[in-house]
Amino acid sequence: MKLQLENLKQTIINAINEANSLENLENIHNEYFSKRGALSQMMANLRNLEPAERPAFGKLVNTVKDEVRLLFNNKKEELETIKLNEKLLLEKVDIELAGDKFLQGSIHPLNLIIEDTSSYFISNGYEVVTGPEIELDLYNFEMMNIAKGHPAREMQDSFYFDPKTLLRTHTSPVQARTMLKKEGKPLKIICPGKVYRRDEDDSTHSHQFMQIEGLVIDKNVSFANLKETLQSYLDFLFKGKVEMRLRPSYFPFTEPSIEVDVLFTKKDGTTTFIEILGAGMVHPNVLKMGGYDPEVYTGFAFGIGVERLAMLRYQIEEIRNFYNNDLRFLKQFKEEF
Ligand code: DAH
Repeated sequence: MKLQLENLKQTIINAINEANSLENLENIHNEYFSKRGALSQMMANLRNLEPAERPAFGKLVNTVKDEVRLLFNNKKEELETIKLNEKLLLEKVDIELAGDKFLQGSIHPLNLIIEDTSSYFISNGYEVVTGPEIELDLYNFEMMNIAKGHPAREMQDSFYFDPKTLLRTHTSPVQARTMLKKEGKPLKIICPGKVYRRDEDDSTHSHQFMQIEGLVIDKNVSFANLKETLQSYLDFLFKGKVEMRLRPSYFPFTEPSIEVDVLFTKKDGTTTFIEILGAGMVHPNVLKMGGYDPEVYTGFAFGIGVERLAMLRYQIEEIRNFYNNDLRFLKQFKEEF
């Protein structure tokens, strides 16, 4: 019996040493360690021995069992580590592999002007507001001091849905909407957005374009404040001192009214003044209709032509480039952000 046990031990040790996969070990486990395995069988054989010999032999079987069990566990751990390492090797991420190319878009040049303008005015305490593109005649004209039959309406002949509703011809109706909302309190806003006019499209005109409206109402707001505001804004936008020219003009919603030109150097080196915005002191009628007492409050307003500024800043001569969505054109403005 002892010899038998000794042989069995050696057989198991050899089998464990030779095992080179977890499957092999599984088989070894079934053959020797399981309930019906050879080691259990050895224990069962105890009953063939003399009762006096049984305890000593039982002990011996258990010692052998512990010994080969330890060997088995060590081997199992070893094979598991090998298997894990093989798996890790297979799953290794090759960081040198070329990645997928994601095409990156760019910000539209008109939006670049709007973004820069917004950040300038926000840092000077202005709020950015918006208004509807489908507007009421009431806000677009009447509350801007352009009564029915006023000749100024003809200059901005527009797309009407019905006699009361139209595509807004300028961003100025947002002035009226904001004044009513602020209920007589001081305000500083800008409003960027699309506007529409019946117009013949050519390289400098479009029936749809963008404006940025500005409105400041408070006590003691002066024309000097307006001029200083426009000068600092333009210096910011063009990153340097801009030569600005103010010309007297006429808008029904401002008095006095001005148009502002900036000195522009053309590609051939010659210079010329180009109109970029209209502005003025808010007309007392507009203040009154908006719920402000013109004896107490004054204000200034301006309306910036976004396309004009973009054309100047990026030296673009064809306004339709902004709307054609040609990537060869749009990609040029990538480095701006
Ligand atoms: N709304 C005018 C236009 O579309 C531009 C303008 C001029 C806006 C003077 C103003 C302003 O706020 O004060 O031509």
